[in-house]
Amino acid sequence: MAVGIFDSGLGGLTVLNAAQKRLPDVDFLYYGDNAHAPYGVRDAENIYQLTKAAMENMWDKGCDLVILACNTASAAALRRMQEGGLPQGKRVLGVFVPLIEALTERQWGDNSPPREVEVKHVALFATPATVASRAFQRELAFRAIGVDVEAQACGGVVDAIEDGDMILAEALVRSHVDALKRKMPHPEAAILGCTHYPLMEQTFQAALGPEVKVFSQGSLVADSLADYLQRHPGMQGNGAGGFYTTGNPGRVSDRATQFLRREITFQAA
Ligand code: DGL
Repeated sequence: MAVGIFDSGLGGLTVLNAAQKRLPDVDFLYYGDNAHAPYGVRDAENIYQLTKAAMENMWDKGCDLVILACNTASAAALRRMQEGGLPQGKRVLGVFVPLIEALTERQWGDNSPPREVEVKHVALFATPATVASRAFQRELAFRAIGVDVEAQACGGVVDAIEDGDMILAEALVRSHVDALKRKMPHPEAAILGCTHYPLMEQTFQAALGPEVKVFSQGSLVADSLADYLQRHPGMQGNGAGGFYTTGNPGRVSDRATQFLRREITFQAA
């Protein structure tokens, strides 16, 4: 029995890590489409096709529930997959909603009309495809009014992280934060709208300053998943857990081990 966690590459490990801490008795099947990362520079059709192929692979491996631990896939493919109809008994959940519920101080599944919230100036850091989709602003508008969102497409950061070039990743984060601050000098909150970015959270926080509250998805998604599994205990599938990649398993295992600071072994998807 395992719950699936999907990302284009290594970023979803930040969600997996939090989910494993929150739900120590649940097995997880992690799938990284590293051969095709980054998704954030691809067009919506391409992201949809890649995400769909990955979901089919994960369903074949026995997952019933898959968390798209990838904002780019959630923005470009989730709604289309759900509207197109999923196979009987399969569910796919994205990662935007738990984050927006936290930002707008809502409880899980609170569908009341949009209302004024505490934060008025929000910086959104995400991939070029997520920013272009405006999916985040759309979900926010269902829940909050009067929030000014300034989005910064953080080109290059995911590639640098996937390549293990953390010096380059840090320099790029600092320059993207500078660019954001030129457009919005005093954000109250910043959203790390890509699951790779929590790996750079300290750099984001240092560049933004201590007065900015940084929201990242790991623990928020883990709490939502715990709540979901409590209400749907039969959704843990029938396959075994493990780590799968479309990339080079040795190389991906090395990077994952470095990021999570524990031995992780990927196998070919
Ligand atoms: N980690 C992913 C996200 O949350 C995607 C990164 C990418 O492949 O560009 O958006």
